[in-house]
Amino acid sequence: MRRPSSLTALIAGVILSILLISFWAKRQAWFPATAYLHEPSAAHSYKAPSTSLGATDSAVSPDPDLTRDIYNSTLGFEKIFVVSLPSRTDRRDSIILAAALSNIEFEFIDGVDGSLIPDTVIPSGPKQGRLPDAPLGCWRAHMNAIQETVRRNLGSVLILEDDVDWDVRIRDQLRDFALSSRALTQPLASTPKSYADKTFPRPSDNSPVAVPDIHLNDLPATIAPQKSPYGDNWDLFWLGHCGMHFPFTESKAIPKGRVVYTEETVPQTQHLWTLSDPNDIKEQYPNHTRVVHHAQDGICSGGYAVTQKSARNVLYELGLKDMNAAYDILLRWFCENGGEPSRGHHHCLTVQPPLFGIHLPAQPKSHNSDISDHGEGFQEKKTENVRYSVKMNIQALLKGGTDLVDQFPDVD
Ligand SMILES: *[C@@H]1O[C@H](CO)[C@@H](O)[C@H](O)[C@H]1NC(C)=O
Ligand SMILES: *[C@@H]1O[C@H](CO)[C@@H](O)[C@H](O)[C@H]1NC(C)=O
Repeated sequence: MRRPSSLTALIAGVILSILLISFWAKRQAWFPATAYLHEPSAAHSYKAPSTSLGATDSAVSPDPDLTRDIYNSTLGFEKIFVVSLPSRTDRRDSIILAAALSNIEFEFIDGVDGSLIPDTVIPSGPKQGRLPDAPLGCWRAHMNAIQETVRRNLGSVLILEDDVDWDVRIRDQLRDFALSSRALTQPLASTPKSYADKTFPRPSDNSPVAVPDIHLNDLPATIAPQKSPYGDNWDLFWLGHCGMHFPFTESKAIPKGRVVYTEETVPQTQHLWTLSDPNDIKEQYPNHTRVVHHAQDGICSGGYAVTQKSARNVLYELGLKDMNAAYDILLRWFCENGGEPSRGHHHCLTVQPPLFGIHLPAQPKSHNSDISDHGEGFQEKKTENVRYSVKMNIQALLKGGTDLVDQFPDVD
């Protein structure tokens, strides 16, 4: 093949620039006022790896590595499902409004009343007792979301519980997460058989117990993903949890890599809430740090994403094998090759603090959950760990999105 002359290259370059500039100008014109709902902020501007510029069709595709898809109405996943009991109309009203105000589209998966699940449909080992109705219903509702993902052959799905909440800047947060996920799981551009994290995909007997932190503003060059903006080599993203740990140093099942960054959306450490003890982020990093890493000891199943391949594995490992623990414990086993019977090795990434928090509306405490007893009295509304929470700012967002309230302002 003849090399293009420098004149042809120059003309092609000028045309490409004009295309890109007009595309950008159009996007600006479409979404002027509430830009944070749709557009990448300038905070961490991201350059596509130079390898992708060589592709013949890169001139017509302004998004060769799919990053822009994170800004779409399903946050860069193929679908979003929200697990929700049809009777909880209060929660359905709230999440429908919050999603509408965030330009997020989702479908409900009906929650299940555990008392209506017959013993015969619960996979059980010998001498295994029936779990209480609440965790049974929760498990079945999530399994129905997974089953639907497999049945419809969906490439990737974000599954949320109906009481979660998120920051108005969720797309910028997810872009940072996606770049981190790629750094931890995509092969290196220079040596496609190896990874920036030397302990990925699995630590070996002589692996180090810790590896150096990777920084978001100094990412390794990795191969651009073809299928998902989050990378093509992950099984589960645990994005909404109420507790998590960095991988234990002694664990041979879980890779040790971490991507670390400073984000203004992270509250100062005195505001961070978790059920895990100790609070790893608070103990090990300065204020406003977020860390993406492999999941260890996750608690709660408020928000997680799966791929088609991993949904099939979840259906097998957590649907067909013995149902002998609450769903978040089953997820933990799925991520850590744990449980009895064991649930296999899978690549589960998570983020601390989490991106989806549990929203508690102003109401009697007894209304909080159909799963457990939350005590007496009346609670003030709040969402843990989320600064510019959508549910806390519904009124301001309805008025056009100025004067949003930061739930956790910095103190000096
Ligand atoms: C958003 O992006 C993902 C990833 O490319 C894609 O699968 C999904 O279909 C897109 N959603 C919409 C509504 O276009
Ligand atoms: C974060 O800032 C607050 C307020 O200045 C301070 O009390 C807290 O100790 C800081 N946390 C860390 C980990 O430095």
